[in-house]
Amino acid sequence: MSKTAITNYQLRPAVQGDFDFFKKVHHATLRPYVEPLFGWDEVWQAEYLKSRYNPDEMKIIQVDGQDAGVLVFGQEPDRVFVKQLLIDPIFQGRGLGTVVLHDMIEQARASKLPLSLSVLRSNLPAKRFYQRHGFVEAYHDEQRVWMHWEPSGQTGDPLVIMASSRSHGHTRHTLDQAFRKIPYQLIDLHGKSISYFDYDHHNRLDDFLWVAEQMVAAKRIVLVTPLYWSAISGVMKVFIDRFTDLTDIRQDLGDGLAGKKLWLMVAGKPEVAPVGIEIPFVEICNHFKMDYQGMQYAYIGQDRKLETASEVAAAEFAKQFL
Ligand SMILES: Cc1cc2nc3c(=O)[nH]c(=O)nc-3n(C[C@H](O)[C@H](O)[C@H](O)COP(=O)(O)O)c2cc1C
Repeated sequence: MSKTAITNYQLRPAVQGDFDFFKKVHHATLRPYVEPLFGWDEVWQAEYLKSRYNPDEMKIIQVDGQDAGVLVFGQEPDRVFVKQLLIDPIFQGRGLGTVVLHDMIEQARASKLPLSLSVLRSNLPAKRFYQRHGFVEAYHDEQRVWMHWEPSGQTGDPLVIMASSRSHGHTRHTLDQAFRKIPYQLIDLHGKSISYFDYDHHNRLDDFLWVAEQMVAAKRIVLVTPLYWSAISGVMKVFIDRFTDLTDIRQDLGDGLAGKKLWLMVAGKPEVAPVGIEIPFVEICNHFKMDYQGMQYAYIGQDRKLETASEVAAAEFAKQFL
């Protein structure tokens, strides 16, 4: 088979009889990564795959009428997800995975939803492949890494920086409600590697300075935090401690913040925000000559949903970014 780039493919619904093809592609692509984690028992693997085989949710990727891979994807109210994207090794190295993934990304972009997937931790080539296409690691357990691609607004403005300890919790829900119809660029700090402030700046290569560059590029910045123990989240505190880097080692970026408008959004359970929660943000704005625009507090009710009044207020708040 020639190694010409593949730019076209078709998807056909899978049928019961595709199981052998699925098994072949699954084993060929994943065995090197499954085996070190779990060992490899051929009979067990076949039974396991059979028990989980659901042709109704699967598509077969075809190139020139030939079966070339397997795709399982879907859409939920808050995300698009890719459950499986496996390319037969015979068709690998020709860009087929990339074109299929691009189409998934376009679907997520059109729906303004994040695209999520997980890979085995041992599968470093897959992880790198998704990173190259803009996915960031959101969290991991012993075996798997969950990765997200976030849709961003066309303009990168406002830049919304979210500092929850989870990507799709109450804070994200608050944001989704507020910015439902308004494009924005989201940086989810949960998916970023930002460590505690270090006097010796050994951490200068982590993600903080990249986020700072995005802030300098934006006109309007919204910092969003959940309320944890009556204060801002630890993620937010670590993030704002790192602003010290902008006075110590990257004064150019610190200077670049002057004149930016900054808002604070807080999502919490008490009916009113704790006194003083804004103080660090006011201080930062004073120090870097940013223009502090105030706080929007979203109140999460007992049923863990945003209180209606808060939902309305959050949407009103976001209208100023239209
Ligand atoms: C570590 C932690 C501490 C919390 N502390 C408080 C608190 O002091 N008072 C309160 O009313 N709610 C508290 N909560 C509830 C959160 O404020 C609330 O559920 C928030 O919206 C969670 O956002 P998230 O889903 O993005 O993490 C806490 C939650 C966590 C995880």
